[in-house]
Amino acid sequence: MSTARTVARSVRARLLMAGLLVVAVVTVGLATVLLRRLNAPEPAGVVQGQAQVGGPFTLTDQTGRRVTDQEFRGRLMLVYFGYTGCPDVCPLGLQTMTEALQALPAAAATGVAPVFITVDPARDTPAVLKAYLELFDQRIVGLSGTQEEVTAATRAYRLYVRKGDADATGAYLIDHSVFTYVLDREGRYVTHFGQSAAPEAMTAKLTELLAAS
Ligand code: NI
Repeated sequence: MSTARTVARSVRARLLMAGLLVVAVVTVGLATVLLRRLNAPEPAGVVQGQAQVGGPFTLTDQTGRRVTDQEFRGRLMLVYFGYTGCPDVCPLGLQTMTEALQALPAAAATGVAPVFITVDPARDTPAVLKAYLELFDQRIVGLSGTQEEVTAATRAYRLYVRKGDADATGAYLIDHSVFTYVLDREGRYVTHFGQSAAPEAMTAKLTELLAAS
């Protein structure tokens, strides 16, 4: 009786040990697989977390100075793409940006870098941008460059840009998506406004972001 009980106890102990061993092996195996996954590089094209909009650029401002995105770090960025020959949409976008900026207290507005990047560098030279931007808020930085530099910027912002056919006089329109992008102080995309955005909404968003330090 007592021997049988001892044997039974011993068998149970062995089963328990075997069970624990299986659990341990499975746990180590799973942990290894998980760690490998965590350490593995992201497959190309996979976007995680925030939308990957925006990126580095090197362009020329309306005074002829070379400018990179780096010089706007530490400030929020408002980025609008368009061109000076745009009949109605771009003037409206820049007007909205102007009103949004002017509704901010001047000191607060120093924390915002408003930027207009042309999608028409062939016609929008720095001098053309300078004359055009006189119509809007004087803090807006107008950026142009070579076609390659501008294309790199529009691609980074995932902008749709399509040049229309030239008419008999050589004039053409450029179809482009109409967004005002908002980037944080590290140059990361926060949000964007569409064509019909009200300046008040833009001011409110900037105020909120400026308050968060
Ligand atoms: Ni336009």
